[in-house]
Amino acid sequence: MTRESWRTRLGFILAAVGSAVGLGNVWRFPWMTAENGGSAFLVVYLAIILLVGVPGLLAEFVIGRRSQRNPAGALYRLSSGSKSWGAVGLFGVVTAVVLLSFYSVVGGWILRYFLASFTGGYFGSPGQYFGAIDFGLPAVGFHVGFLALTALVVVGGIRDGIERATKVMMPAIIVLLIALAGWAVTRPGAGAGLSFYLDFDGTYLRANFFDVLGAAAGQALFTLSLGVGTMITYASYLGDDHNLASDGSLIAVLNTGVGVLAGLVVFPLLFATVGELTGPAAAGGGPGALFVSLAGAFSQLPFGQPLAVVFFGVIVLAALSSSISMLEIPVAYLVDEFGLERRTATAALTCLVLVTGSANALNPGLFGFVAGTLVDLMLTAGLAGFLVFVGWVLGKDAVTEFSSGAGSRVRSLGPAWLWSVRTILPLFLLGTLAVNLLALAGVSLF
Ligand code: PFF
Repeated sequence: MTRESWRTRLGFILAAVGSAVGLGNVWRFPWMTAENGGSAFLVVYLAIILLVGVPGLLAEFVIGRRSQRNPAGALYRLSSGSKSWGAVGLFGVVTAVVLLSFYSVVGGWILRYFLASFTGGYFGSPGQYFGAIDFGLPAVGFHVGFLALTALVVVGGIRDGIERATKVMMPAIIVLLIALAGWAVTRPGAGAGLSFYLDFDGTYLRANFFDVLGAAAGQALFTLSLGVGTMITYASYLGDDHNLASDGSLIAVLNTGVGVLAGLVVFPLLFATVGELTGPAAAGGGPGALFVSLAGAFSQLPFGQPLAVVFFGVIVLAALSSSISMLEIPVAYLVDEFGLERRTATAALTCLVLVTGSANALNPGLFGFVAGTLVDLMLTAGLAGFLVFVGWVLGKDAVTEFSSGAGSRVRSLGPAWLWSVRTILPLFLLGTLAVNLLALAGVSLF
């Protein structure tokens, strides 16, 4: 059976942007920004996207397009059958399952908020509402619903499933977010939110540099879907005529634009409403606080209810276009390596995540560990592995792949890109990993 490929360049770009734009932009980004000094975090985060994110994205593209395989098969084959490199790729496949196991729980919360927005179910007491649905059996139910929607797209395959769905979802997300941001920034009191978000606070950054750096690095990888093999897998369905560097830069710019735009919706709303909402503190109180604050904001604002429907509708789409990219990795692995039918592979993995995700939905402690620390560590380690592979195993072949389909200007960047992928970028990631591991063990270096 011939392997599928994207129908159009735009289809690939929108699918990759769809993977990148998700709960990371709307839920995790404001949460991390609020906990790490607002604008100070934003600046470091943008710098890491540019200096580490974009070259890392290109490294994953190079592996994917050259091998035309899932991450495990890709590293195994490109290293001429090294089991150790195959294991590095397999680590990415496992990370995808771990990720989806918590992401689908948050996706379930969003789905529930979206449905409840039609009746205003949470408007009366947002805090109590979230407390009643966040973990336990209701959370399991909505997690299963969200997972089923994800599986429905993935089972359709690359062209008829993922490409078709993301081509509709992404423009819808962008248009709706622009409209929402236009509305949010004109709320009375929005100014305080905007200045927290956009006025650079150097004092905070100097005092907490390493904490901000670690959180910003984790968030930058998460938002670009790096270190798992999503971009390897998506690029494996590409032909040689694509200019990887320009596609990659466009994807990073679009993702960052949507992230910043989401901030323009979330921060003014968090600060604009009166009384119980106390800006950063409200957003910084853990994964649920954002839901509580925003739900509270919508309940107090004029036209809050229809706007809440739009807002949570946008996030459902954004979350789905990311969760399908997570499920596609292990599905591609089972299809490529074991010759399973796509349908069988999707069903088997959906059953697996149904169980692992339910464990997260039933146990807040486990959920917090997986969604925060574990994911940061796995993505950082995964991307470091992919970069070392591209830099030291593929070496010059990586530059050839990088240049294929590119114009002369982009080609001339190839050697500098390879140098950074060989040296400073893995060192940076390994350094971040070490600091995070020590922090986990309770040792504070700085
Ligand atoms: N980038 C997605 C987001 O920001 O929500 C999350 C994500 C998707 C991370 C796919 C990793 C991944 F492989």
